[in-house]
Amino acid sequence: MRTALVTGGTTGIGAAISTAIKATGARVAATHSGNEARAAAFSTATGIPTFRWDVSDHAACATGIADVEAALGPIDILVNNAGITCDASLLKMNPEAWKRVLAVDLDSCFNMAQVVVGGMKARRWGRIVNIASINGQTGQFGQTNYAAAKAGMLGFTKALALEVARDGVTVNAVAPGYTDTEMVAAVAPEIMKTIVARIPVGRLAQPNEIARCVAFLVAEEAGFITGSTLSVNGGQAMI
Ligand code: CAA
Repeated sequence: MRTALVTGGTTGIGAAISTAIKATGARVAATHSGNEARAAAFSTATGIPTFRWDVSDHAACATGIADVEAALGPIDILVNNAGITCDASLLKMNPEAWKRVLAVDLDSCFNMAQVVVGGMKARRWGRIVNIASINGQTGQFGQTNYAAAKAGMLGFTKALALEVARDGVTVNAVAPGYTDTEMVAAVAPEIMKTIVARIPVGRLAQPNEIARCVAFLVAEEAGFITGSTLSVNGGQAMI
């Protein structure tokens, strides 16, 4: 039985990913960054244990992953899903908004992967999936920080995929489009209207429509897919 760890795995797309991977028969742990009540409710509903730490903190990732591995066993599957937005056009963006988004969304991939990849290589099997975004592929007004972080994840995915390809470890990205989550609900309704009008499918994605792509990439049979980006955006960007 494989063991999976999903960052930001108690809410939104992450919660759907945690439950989809559990449904494949794997043991799953989910991290969260502080909403204890929501994490407890998620754990009660799904039976998935949750762990709390800040994925932008390199040392906290090492300690947190050691706790998960002590409880569940070595991590075979890592999903770097945790992410935040802090939107503002460039001239209005303060350095904190730039640094925090880069730290949570991109540094976290380095922090997490560096801890688990050695064990995956040694056991000659592993799956890493990084949850990027359509806005890292196309850019988006008001998201220089988020688009840079998400585009950075795509480069990180390809470089790490090369480093571990011989060791049975695959590294891929999933790039969701606009999905029915709290993050998207925070965008002003008049702006969302113009965005949804540009989605050929004519609606937002549901979190489980993203999660099934992750389940596909972490499957035993997916060993020949590595360094790829799976775009799941309702046709908004055909790349
Ligand atoms: N496109 C084109 N023009 C825009 C615009 C947009 N999205 N947003 C603002 N403008 C215009 C303004 O109307 C203004 O025009 P005028 O000067 O002619 O009045 C001009 O640009 C200057 O805008 P400001 O710098 O003052 O920007 P603002 O403060 O009004 O808005 C913003 C900035 C709140 C970030 C807004 O642009 C916005 O909400 N953008 C969308 C952000 C977005 O899509 N976020 C997605 C979050 S969810 C997510 O990211 C998940 C995922 O992976 C898909």
